[in-house]
Amino acid sequence: MSVSFFKILGPVIEREIGFITQQHGVSIKKIYARIIAEAERNQKEWYSNKVPNLNYINPICRLAYLYIVAAANAGTFKHVLEEHKGLRKFVLTKARERREIKICAFGAGPGTELLAMAKFFFELNLGMNITVDFQLVDKTQEWMSSWYGIREQVNDTFRALFSTDRSTWPIVPLGNFLSCDVTDLQSLPLLSNIWNQDIYVLNFLLSEIFDDNPHCRAFMSQVASFAPPGAHFIFIERKGTMWEKRMAAIAAESRLKLSPFVESRRTLVGERPEDLGAIFEALSEQRMPRLKWNIVYSIGVKQ
Ligand SMILES: C[S@@+](CC[C@H](N)C(=O)[O-])C[C@H]1O[C@@H](n2cnc3c(N)ncnc32)[C@H](O)[C@@H]1O
Repeated sequence: MSVSFFKILGPVIEREIGFITQQHGVSIKKIYARIIAEAERNQKEWYSNKVPNLNYINPICRLAYLYIVAAANAGTFKHVLEEHKGLRKFVLTKARERREIKICAFGAGPGTELLAMAKFFFELNLGMNITVDFQLVDKTQEWMSSWYGIREQVNDTFRALFSTDRSTWPIVPLGNFLSCDVTDLQSLPLLSNIWNQDIYVLNFLLSEIFDDNPHCRAFMSQVASFAPPGAHFIFIERKGTMWEKRMAAIAAESRLKLSPFVESRRTLVGERPEDLGAIFEALSEQRMPRLKWNIVYSIGVKQ
């Protein structure tokens, strides 16, 4: 009995491909070829050393992300939850005391952070049911279908592993997708439900904003000023002093107490990309999903 990122992602990807084939009359073969092309384009943009120009509004680009990157990024977040002692203690205390965790992910994309929470709590086996209340903030509204797809698939997974009675599940995921650019201060008043969170996550967001953007710093410092004391801000990025500087600048302006930076270079454990199903069979010879990470992370705590 296990929870697998790839097993959850497989049906989500398949449903999205099914929708495109029906809606636009494009063959699956053509979609697969386009996914490979988009994956290559994304890779070049991420490592272009300038603001990456990504096509997330295009469903093929999002499919390439779900196929190549989503599992590895869920792995980084789960790893940080497990490895950082202060964060782990904070999460477990909230879970045991309140049976609820409130989490807001900035630049959440499809909601890979939910995949991580589902597997983290499943493996912890606390013997109680935790409500994970998610607020996903992303400037690309089109990610909404993947977020609801992942949430539904997490629910289906727990229904199959436990029962239809949700009180027997390790977590029950709730939440909203909020479309918002975190460099646009004007949109802050629209985010009525993100102020009172336990955890705020920026998992691979800063490298997409790329520049040391003063509007992003101002946005985050507003969020931090309304966050409850003790709220934990989790910054995860690919390894590099540039990203450490970005995290430090946001934390300083937001008056967060930042932990020392930790580097981690690992491979996903206990995951089989074959579990993605049809898309893996079709594409793996040309391109494998990402199975490794090389990150730096730090945790900021609101005083
Ligand atoms: C690399 S993805 C990370 C997604 C997810 N957190 C993960 O780790 O898999 C970066 C996400 O940040 C979003 N993003 C980029 N710039 C943004 C901005 N200025 N405001 C809000 N979201 C942004 C993109 O739309 C994309 O979904």
